[in-house]
Amino acid sequence: MMVSEWNSVKDVFENKKVGDRVKLRGWIYRTRSSGGIVFILLRDSSGIVQITIKKGDLPEDQFRDAEKALVESSIMVEGIVREDKRAPGGFEVKADKFNVVNFAEPFPITKDQSIELLLDYRHLWLRSRRLTLIMKIKAELLKALREWFDMNGFYETTPSVITTNAAEGGATVFSFDYFGRKAFLSQTAQMYLEALIYSLERVWCLTPSFRAEKSRTPRHLTEYWHLEAEEAWVDNNGNMEIQEKLISYTCNKIAERCESELTELGRNPDDLKKIKPPFKRIKYEDAVEIVNQRGVKMNYGDDFGAPHEKALVEGEEKPVFVTDFPAEIKAFYMKENSDGKTVKCSDMYAPEGYGELIGGSERSEDIERMKEKLLKEGADIKNYEWYFDLRRYGSVPHSGFGLGIERLLCWITKQDHIRNMTPFPRTITRVYP
Ligand code: 4AD
Ligand code: MG
Repeated sequence: MMVSEWNSVKDVFENKKVGDRVKLRGWIYRTRSSGGIVFILLRDSSGIVQITIKKGDLPEDQFRDAEKALVESSIMVEGIVREDKRAPGGFEVKADKFNVVNFAEPFPITKDQSIELLLDYRHLWLRSRRLTLIMKIKAELLKALREWFDMNGFYETTPSVITTNAAEGGATVFSFDYFGRKAFLSQTAQMYLEALIYSLERVWCLTPSFRAEKSRTPRHLTEYWHLEAEEAWVDNNGNMEIQEKLISYTCNKIAERCESELTELGRNPDDLKKIKPPFKRIKYEDAVEIVNQRGVKMNYGDDFGAPHEKALVEGEEKPVFVTDFPAEIKAFYMKENSDGKTVKCSDMYAPEGYGELIGGSERSEDIERMKEKLLKEGADIKNYEWYFDLRRYGSVPHSGFGLGIERLLCWITKQDHIRNMTPFPRTITRVYP
């Protein structure tokens, strides 16, 4: 079977004329029959088209199969393109050949199912319209991010995911037995990227990161795709410039390339075309004041929770940075400001209350201070000796950041829950299928 023999659903709408003959294969999305006619919506990866199968137009056994085949049966169809105002998209295919590849059993997912049932059947629910659109946009999102790094002199690298370092704190780390030693699933590739800047200067990577998050929120997964970058000779301001350019490029490209998918999901592509540098930069202490003024209480020294993030971005059309957090609520590796209280860091928050998209900072070069902080956290210092070596042999000012792909996608597609941003979401209550 030659690939080129077959048409896609998209062909029917974009490349074929009324009266043309087409050959399609796909799955039954909906089916109904009335009198001697069966109407089937055929779904393939490119779209959905109506197939009309009329008794007498094709061999009797084929017509009976069309009547019998249930939703999600796989089928092959040949026929003629016709205009029909009542059909979705205004065109349909009048079949004269209809073959069932696999008669599906009654599909376990029907209308209005509970979220838990849809997650139990995730392997089948991936065929739903919404998840299909989201997965298509995710592919374009990853493509656009990669393009930006390519165009801006960054090397893509492949750090390990099995590690002995818990850079983001021991509380949310998954540990396991590694041939008699304790190892972790990586929370971040940052420390490995830091090692790579001494040869490559500007690096990035895309890896799964793991967080044993006990919190059940619409923003947290236990496994997520983490895009991280690290840059030699760049300070915290330069780091923010890189982030706002990367996010703007990506949003603009998605708006251009996924217009119909975005629109169908309820996101106006124009929202994403407006994302342009610079993004607002607000110091932590000012951010605390703004949030309080908007009626959400928080004290200096508190971390931002969902209500604070939402209050902070009220009325904003673009993401905003919050900078210079108190050292106590940030990681051991962040460079301190001269005030001795705050650190050179930035968190980027999405508009509309979608929360933190990126965490970044300039990196400390003070081995003793880092050791002090790690000891306070109860970390095993000897696992970090290799990291301190990076400061001993030709250390340079450098900065980097980490972006949660599913967080970014959730905002871009205007969806309410992060679990739909990944095919098989992992949360505290979900590891099957
Ligand atoms: O802010 P985080 O913890 O920063 C780091 O891991 C740094 N070491 C990154 C770096 O500088 N290289 O995580 C970065 C981003 C967050 O801003 C958020 O978008 C995402 O990762 N993230 C999560 N996404 C989904 N589920 C979770 N549980 C997440 N935790 C963090
Ligand atoms: Mg963070």
